[in-house]
Amino acid sequence: MGECKKYYLTTPIYYVNDVPHIGHAYTTIIADTIARYARLKGLDTFFLTGTDEHGQKIEESAKKRGKNPKEYADEISSKFRELWDYFGISYDKFIRTTDPEHIRGVQKAFLTMWEKGDIYKGVYEGYYCVSCESFVAPSNLVNGEFCPECGKPTRIIKEESYFFRLSKYQDQILKWLKEKKPILPESRGNEVIRFVEEGLKDLSITRTTFDWGIKLPPELNEPKHVIYVWLDALFNYMTALGYGSEDTTLLEKYWPADLHIVGKDILKFHAVYWPAFLMSIGYPLPKKIAAHGWWTRDGEKMSKSKGNVIDPRQVADAYGLDNFRYFLMREVPFGADGDFSERALIGRINNDLGNDLGNLLNRLIGMAYKYFDGEIDSSNVEKYYGEIWKEVLEIVQPLEEKYLHKMQLHRFLEELWKVLRIGNRLIDSEKPWELMKKGEKEKAMALLGTIANLLAVVAVNLYPFMPKTGEKLAESLQLKIDTENFKKRLEGELLPKFKIQRIPPLFPRIEKPLLEEQTKPQSEKGEKKGKKGEKSAQKDDKSGANLISIDDFFKVQLKIGKIVVAEEIKKSKKLLRLEVDLGEGRNRQIVAGIKEWYKPEDLIGKLVVVVANLKPAKLMGYKSEGMLLAGKDENGLSLLTPDTPRKPGSPVS
Ligand code: MSP
Repeated sequence: MGECKKYYLTTPIYYVNDVPHIGHAYTTIIADTIARYARLKGLDTFFLTGTDEHGQKIEESAKKRGKNPKEYADEISSKFRELWDYFGISYDKFIRTTDPEHIRGVQKAFLTMWEKGDIYKGVYEGYYCVSCESFVAPSNLVNGEFCPECGKPTRIIKEESYFFRLSKYQDQILKWLKEKKPILPESRGNEVIRFVEEGLKDLSITRTTFDWGIKLPPELNEPKHVIYVWLDALFNYMTALGYGSEDTTLLEKYWPADLHIVGKDILKFHAVYWPAFLMSIGYPLPKKIAAHGWWTRDGEKMSKSKGNVIDPRQVADAYGLDNFRYFLMREVPFGADGDFSERALIGRINNDLGNDLGNLLNRLIGMAYKYFDGEIDSSNVEKYYGEIWKEVLEIVQPLEEKYLHKMQLHRFLEELWKVLRIGNRLIDSEKPWELMKKGEKEKAMALLGTIANLLAVVAVNLYPFMPKTGEKLAESLQLKIDTENFKKRLEGELLPKFKIQRIPPLFPRIEKPLLEEQTKPQSEKGEKKGKKGEKSAQKDDKSGANLISIDDFFKVQLKIGKIVVAEEIKKSKKLLRLEVDLGEGRNRQIVAGIKEWYKPEDLIGKLVVVVANLKPAKLMGYKSEGMLLAGKDENGLSLLTPDTPRKPGSPVS
């Protein structure tokens, strides 16, 4: 991330032949984390993602579904965009390779390479993998027929084609790879070096046997040809900033890219072809290209035909988006393959998040209120716990340099967790309750101050990985997550005196897998829950008054919402479909049984109280993501609304 003031990072652009799955979510969530970290550091950041919409693969997928390719691309591209918005991904631009500006930019690049003498006409005869949109050398075929990358059968093609003089750039690419070491992890960089050393052949960059692609620049008068989809796709990183258009302000500001995040399967395209194209058009090369590994399920590659593809939205809905993000980045070392297992995910949530992090905050809140009415004063932290505080700073200060620069996100988190363990151990060994008994109030306060500061330093560092959790921690510690505070916390400045806020437990314990539960029939789920509910009520309710503990109450997240859309569900006597703003950057759809008492038009703009952490349910075919609170008596039903206006998303407690 260096000292440069700007930071430009990208995800690959996703093929629109398939809906988003966990692999896409993984790349995008990593990129979002790095983008958030860069912004927190105060860098002027630009984060690009988007969809890759041309080529034979997309044309064939569309045909199979009886759609024209553009119509099909529109549909799937919007699924990607919707998912990223649902996940609160902080991208600055979503590019589509069917955007006219992109098309113009690719044609300009092609013409520039042509004019430079780097493109010539010939005939391509050989093997082609449609799934990878990649030419395969005969020596690399598996069993004389199959693609070495994806294992699918290749096709033999023979067609007139334009070629790019890749071989001309072999030495320059090698020099760049060896001197700048741009590939992460380094071991992957060595693989690429070996590949280039074996010799680069010129690359076929146009196709004539199908139509769905960018036409060659009109100057070349070659209407039969379309540009190879990888050349088209790679240039998105520049056309998104205005390459090929009138306004190149963004390009001048942000190029070269600081980081391209890719999966290991597409590293060759980014680490060999892409730099060669850039050398040809005379632009600087990206600074880093980081290649992550692949997610499998129960040891097997995920595929639609096996029915073992993981839907990221389903996992995030069941387990919480932040928890899912944490799992993806903590569970597997960057660059290695990982196996998705629900058991491992639950383990991370209950242990790392619940026991280490959630518990430390709960202990702090509990003691602060028991002994000091919630007040926390850090004035004597240095006096009593200076050594511990130094130890904490020595862990967190080098995190960026040591781990983030190398994309070792799992190590970053692992180190951060050392800080939490120091906190929990400190409480165990110092026993503040005994300090209080002995009358050592000043020391007990210093202990709480130490824990609060340690949590504050964790909050700012964790925020890029788990944005909502970072914000909730910060809310409790009366801290704002911004560049100034990030710097202050890392420099070791102690928190001013403050009153800690009680917040609901961050990580309620998960007792059983939730994804399987989701696939069970509704009736079965209801029955089970009912029985369990009765049983625990009987157990807890010793007085017979149906009491619940404060912890149980805190499990329910109540928030102020603002109704922005309200309409009738025609087929239903009771239900209205609402869209409610909960300050989350997107509206939630809530289906409410209030039609008898409210006209839709009277609801627009109304502030309401929403149960925000209800599992989504389907009512009359509409997904409902929450519930409104209302009071009812013999005169009818009345929605709860705050006494004076509060911002959407404000917690209700
Ligand atoms: N369109 C090209 C990229 C062009 S970039 C100029 C492409 N698209 S893709 O949709 O097939 O894959 C996009 C990314 O998703 C790749 O980085 C790929 O590695 C990643 N993943 C797809 N499946 C994956 C897993 N099962 N696990 C982890 N990531 C994987 O390639």
